[in-house]
Amino acid sequence: MQERLSLFQHAFSVMPHLVCFAVKANSALAILDLLGRRGAGFDVVSGGELERVLAVDHRFAERVVFSGIGKTAPELDLALRSEILLFNVESEGELELLSERAAKLRKRARIALRVNPDVFAETHPYISTGLREHKFGIDIRRARAVYRKAGKSLEPAGVSVHIGSQIRGAEPFGAAAQRVAALIADLRKDGHVIRYMDAGGGLGIEYHADRPFDPEEKVREYAAALIPAAQSAGGVTLLLEPGRFLVAQAGALLARVLYVKKNGEKTFVITDAAMNDLIRPALYQAYHHIVPVARPRGKRRIVADVVGPVCESGDFFARDRELAPVRPGDLVAILDAGAYGMTLASNYNSRLRPAEVLVEGRRARLIRRRENIDDLLAPERLSHSL
Ligand code: LLP
Repeated sequence: MQERLSLFQHAFSVMPHLVCFAVKANSALAILDLLGRRGAGFDVVSGGELERVLAVDHRFAERVVFSGIGKTAPELDLALRSEILLFNVESEGELELLSERAAKLRKRARIALRVNPDVFAETHPYISTGLREHKFGIDIRRARAVYRKAGKSLEPAGVSVHIGSQIRGAEPFGAAAQRVAALIADLRKDGHVIRYMDAGGGLGIEYHADRPFDPEEKVREYAAALIPAAQSAGGVTLLLEPGRFLVAQAGALLARVLYVKKNGEKTFVITDAAMNDLIRPALYQAYHHIVPVARPRGKRRIVADVVGPVCESGDFFARDRELAPVRPGDLVAILDAGAYGMTLASNYNSRLRPAEVLVEGRRARLIRRRENIDDLLAPERLSHSL
């Protein structure tokens, strides 16, 4: 995680920039702390995520950008009081509400409109966001008119864009940034002082651990696509919102094999982890590499589905996967679970979410204890106690 953050900071060092880690990818306090102490800012999409950042260090507020299409008044108030860096406003309704709340609290808020650049980016349809038909942002062709509507308590200071997630090529990022740069030029003609260009997140990783992947080269390509566009805008601080790229490959989900069973021709490896712990395979048909933790016995391979105990056929980590043979009691590591793993985890089937351990070199530290049954039952009341 530290290395990935440095790669970004280094690649963009030729211009003023701030790497705002997308908290939704991994919101563990220890990780926010680790990245924040190394100069990262944060992209948050809810009051809850902002509270997490503030809980780590309230001084981080000045490095926070707030995105999301459904911000509520209490969330806006919290962000206004915390005096965050930038609100990424996603609709005219939000612009009005923010203006109202800011006036009420006697605060002035820096805003960027999140524009929808109508750029296609190859990725899973659930995580592609940059087309006009998506719910995100404001049509870039209408942006100029919307900026004019910003009330006195708002200061139009930037333009933001985010085209999707797990995007492998750099070109769509460059195309979107160029459209944003053109808009910035127009906004300046209208008299706005635009100081921030927020290029969003979305840079993808390689989940197939057996395929080549050079993170340094990826960041270099990404920077090469963005920097010329950002520099053409002139006088802007470039904000970046990487999530996955910084944390995915630093995390593995450890699971213990409970049973190995055959149904007809198929072999099933049943683990104590399930879709509630890591939902990416079920939700996006995502590939996660799986390796036994102990050195495999011999060269033999099996083909199996690796599944969890949840009562759904969608509860799988891998299908027809070639694996080293495993036995009940063995540990397997489901790789690249550091992003959108724990943050998407749930208590489905009343399963307790796992512990989280942060490893640095030979040192390991528990950063979240395993949940217990009291955690699970605490918010509930029996109806007859009403
Ligand atoms: N900025 C905004 C406004 C976003 O919506 C997102 C991700 C990011 C930054 C960070 O994107 P990243 O660099 O991580 O690609 N659960 C899905 C991914 C959802 C991404 C949502 N937005 C998955 O597991 O693949």
